[in-house]
Amino acid sequence: MIVKFNRSTLSISWTVVFTSLLATGAVGCKKKEGDKTGTGAGTGAGTGAGTTVGSGPGPTAAGGGGGGGAGKIALLLPESQTARYEAADRPFFEAKFKALCPGVEIVYSNANQQAADQQQQAEAAIAKGVKVMVLDPVDGDSAGVIVKNAKTKNISVVSYDRLIKGGATPDYYISFDNHRVGQLQAEALLKKLTATVKGKPKITMINGSPTDNNATLFKQGAHSVFDGKVDIVKEDAAANWKPEEAQQLMEQFIAAVKPKGFDGAYQANDGTAGGAIAAMKTAGIDPKTKPTAGQDAELAAIQRILTGEQYMTVYKAIQPEAEKAAELACALYKGEQPAAGMVTGKVNNGTADIPSVLLAPIAVTKDGGDGTSSVADTIVKDKFYGPETVAQICKDYADACKAAKLQ
Ligand code: BGC
Repeated sequence: MIVKFNRSTLSISWTVVFTSLLATGAVGCKKKEGDKTGTGAGTGAGTGAGTTVGSGPGPTAAGGGGGGGAGKIALLLPESQTARYEAADRPFFEAKFKALCPGVEIVYSNANQQAADQQQQAEAAIAKGVKVMVLDPVDGDSAGVIVKNAKTKNISVVSYDRLIKGGATPDYYISFDNHRVGQLQAEALLKKLTATVKGKPKITMINGSPTDNNATLFKQGAHSVFDGKVDIVKEDAAANWKPEEAQQLMEQFIAAVKPKGFDGAYQANDGTAGGAIAAMKTAGIDPKTKPTAGQDAELAAIQRILTGEQYMTVYKAIQPEAEKAAELACALYKGEQPAAGMVTGKVNNGTADIPSVLLAPIAVTKDGGDGTSSVADTIVKDKFYGPETVAQICKDYADACKAAKLQ
């Protein structure tokens, strides 16, 4: 059954989906046996532009794309400064897709946050004869042109993690409940500040790239919690999701409101949280005194959370997201319907109701509580960075790890 979700039903219904994912062990960046490509999120990033994997004879069942050779699909990711894309999204997608659609080539590109480059990468993939495109857009609106162009060639499109808009109709959308991500960030920060600050807490806000529909949803979700309950003394957006943009913004904020002029800081993700925290240190502020929020459960952020430099992050299990995208891509490649029960909702992108798969995010703090889960119960339990998760977190952080009972 396909259900059209409005905002209030969304989080409840997707909790059910997430619980069943947990029960089947599908959640978390757990490295499975035989999964040689999965390195786990937050372990590093590469550029990887324009490479292909998995060449070989095409399957007999499917029309194998243009050029008369083996069949092809495309995976187009938006940037590489945020660890997740090269460390988790790509390897988990590739491993699952190769298992499901053996012999079908994956044309891979990373746009390094340049919408024009992504446009060219998409054109190159179309010229190579891909049959399916899994696209995480740098710019949700301008990517509409890519989809319209693909559709004229009968190429199916999966809108991956970020919603594609711009008058286009992708076949599927897979992501997390991104409005909920913003709410989780704000709820955790608000509770922490209300417990520690006298009067209305004062916060700074650094949102994500305005061309990313997710950033809009994070911001809306956060404002739905903050508005009326905190004073937002400064707010701006990191135009390209870059840590250094956030660092500069935070330097300007601190210069304007002075160190005593804010109690806590909202950043849309862990990369920008890292930038904002660096700015605090430069200004002589101990970040432990200014609770901050981020997102992605990046390794560096988890280490900051253990030492108290960052208050919270949002954990999004990338493995099920990437693997479900691979399942959708393989089904589309073969001209089949996705497995029953996989697509459970619809999200409107301004043009049409797009059949959607949305996963549930989790708020994480060092020890959990107040509506958040602990590092031990999430990242460590799920082995988010692979089998060596604890060793990776605790390298150079032995004391903090012992204090948090991780070792
Ligand atoms: C993703 C986040 C990521 C951000 C920057 C968003 O669309 O959902 O996980 O941190 O982009 O790449």
